Amino acid sequence: MGTFNDRVVIVTGGALGMGGDTALEFAREGASVVVADVNREAGEGLVARMAAEGLRGTFVEADVAEGTSCRRVVSDAVATFGAVDVLFNNVGIQPPTSYLNVEDTPEEMWDRIVGVNLKSHFLMAKYAIPEMRKRGGGVIINNASVQGLQSQKLVPAYAASKGGILSLTRQMALDYASEGIRVLAICPGTIDTEMVRTIAASEPGSVEDNLRRFGATHPLGRIGTGQDIANVVLFLASDKASFMTGEYVCVDGGYMALGAWAGGAGAAAGES
Ligand SMILES: NC(=O)c1ccc[n+]([C@@H]2O[C@H](COP(=O)([O-])OP(=O)(O)OC[C@H]3O[C@@H](n4cnc5c(N)ncnc54)[C@H](O)[C@@H]3O)[C@@H](O)[C@H]2O)c1
Repeated sequence: MGTFNDRVVIVTGGALGMGGDTALEFAREGASVVVADVNREAGEGLVARMAAEGLRGTFVEADVAEGTSCRRVVSDAVATFGAVDVLFNNVGIQPPTSYLNVEDTPEEMWDRIVGVNLKSHFLMAKYAIPEMRKRGGGVIINNASVQGLQSQKLVPAYAASKGGILSLTRQMALDYASEGIRVLAICPGTIDTEMVRTIAASEPGSVEDNLRRFGATHPLGRIGTGQDIANVVLFLASDKASFMTGEYVCVDGGYMALGAWAGGAGAAAGES
């Protein structure tokens, strides 16, 4: 018996990265999982892997920045599995070409990043909440970032989208608490996914060396894994977290505990 037997879970951006790892973990804990993603090949591959393990999953090809697609993801979930209990609003993009100041950021790039990262969370919640209400409650978990709490240079659209997710999380938590719908956010530090590997590949040096360099800036001395994220998301979605809502949880190897004035992780560990 798994923790999520009889529960239906939607994961946006669920084909790869931490979305893929979390979708698989939900399925292994008994959930029926809807993987919503633009990447058909990866999404179908993940669902085939679930089937090979005797698990329940289905893939919906969808660009979740669009309202019609989000409505279809929810209606497909209900048509296939009969309900929606958990929504993991995981999707997000940070193209390497987007490291620009406000003046140089094209309006289309701003719209795309905010559309995928923030508007999709609103749209998916908008269409999933009526289904959760029919079940007497549900859980929405939004994937923000440590960049929603503190900033680096030259990420105006990404930082704004992630800060917006934290505000939207608090707002929805307040508006739906009385209906038993909990809303939470996670703030990952650097996690080993396709997104981060693309960023690592765009910088001088080898990808593996750059990942180690990113990891060295985290007090725990490494970057995170998709499994690190899946573990926390499944806990937050479970009844063990039934008194948590309107909150964010950092899954960041101690990154947000470290003040910039402290001189970085090496200095904090007495290594400088
Ligand atoms: N990787 C990190 O270090 C890190 C850190 C903090 C926060 N995050 C956030 O975590 C989330 C997941 O990131 P990741 O690193 O796993 O990303 P990833 O790029 O590795 O995977 C993202 C998935 O989303 C899908 N996707 C992209 N645009 C889509 C769209 N419009 N509609 C549907 N699917 C779409 C991709 O096909 C892919 O399967 C994002 O919200 C990201 O901003 C990542």
